[in-house]
Amino acid sequence: MKPSRFMTLSRHIVEGEKKHPGATGELSALLADFALAVKIIALEVNKAGLVDILGFEGSNNVHGEKVKKLDMYAHDILIRAMDHGGHLAVMASEEEEDIIHIPKKHRIGKYVLLFDPLDGSSNIDANVSIGTIFSIYRRVSPDGLPGTEEDCLQEGYKQVAAGYVVYGSSTMLVYTAGNGVYGFTLDPSVGEFLLSHDDIKIPQRGKIYSLNEGNYKYWHNGLKKYIKYLQDADDRTGNPYTARYIGSMVADIHRNLLYGGIFIYPADKRNPKGKLRLMYECNPMAFIVEAAGGRASDGKQRTLEIKPESIHERSPIYIGSEGDVLEVEKFLREEEMAEAEEKKK
Ligand code: AHG
Ligand code: MN
Ligand code: MN
Repeated sequence: MKPSRFMTLSRHIVEGEKKHPGATGELSALLADFALAVKIIALEVNKAGLVDILGFEGSNNVHGEKVKKLDMYAHDILIRAMDHGGHLAVMASEEEEDIIHIPKKHRIGKYVLLFDPLDGSSNIDANVSIGTIFSIYRRVSPDGLPGTEEDCLQEGYKQVAAGYVVYGSSTMLVYTAGNGVYGFTLDPSVGEFLLSHDDIKIPQRGKIYSLNEGNYKYWHNGLKKYIKYLQDADDRTGNPYTARYIGSMVADIHRNLLYGGIFIYPADKRNPKGKLRLMYECNPMAFIVEAAGGRASDGKQRTLEIKPESIHERSPIYIGSEGDVLEVEKFLREEEMAEAEEKKK
């Protein structure tokens, strides 16, 4: 279906919420605040390359303020945009050790917001796509009181909404409230996100694999065999696959969501829990990819069912087209069984 030319993000969210009897409009308002924050971040991202030329770096900006790293800037903007809307009970960010309370002077709401303010930060200086990831839950602690860590430590399947923004050749916001995944492209001239990708579905199988192959020597054997299998030409399966790895999870998964394929950040011999953060990266991306018909797991267990124990914990992730994720899980399982058999001997 061709998207309507003038379906703005705010209209889309309001119309989506209206379909739920009893909805208060709070989620719409929360997402609208978030959209404003990411427009401000997008402006700053677009100016990132000018920092040296304008002589800001490491010194003061035009307002006499210290220039912040872009990820801390994004973190601060998100908090400033989100803490006074009256919708949130508590927040947590990849960039802050502790949970973030709503200042006492503001109303305390019923939602919980977790975010990775800037994802792919090592790519900033090379003008390569980066992103922002967010995840929204309903609080579980009593209403009216400050939110707690328990509110932030919910399983991913309990998310109410999740999304990401890619700052790429254009700025795009992709979100789901559980039913359908929708992509909006920022029209910079009017400052509005307009629906450009209606009801995104990930292909059942893809031809792309995305992981950091530089870590090959630390991989477990199951993963080594799986990647080798994808690289071997085979008329039956249509292999070999194509390797694509940007190093920004948001951008890598966004591409695979549209074209099909698998993104992997595995556990390996150095990092038994992988690198990526369960609450800010794995869960929101898993919620989106599942809503688009895909699959996400830590190799054994569905990502969205992992019971989190701390807000900054890490998890391995295998995410993307369902057929591809099922296949890698099979390789990992078979290798584990073979190794267990070997040990018995
Ligand atoms: P962040 O910038 O939020 O710290 O995240 C970076 C992450 C993720 O975006 C990406 O997939 C991964 O780090 C890349 O890691 P490697 O450099 O180890 O491949
Ligand atoms: Mn990240
Ligand atoms: Mn980050």
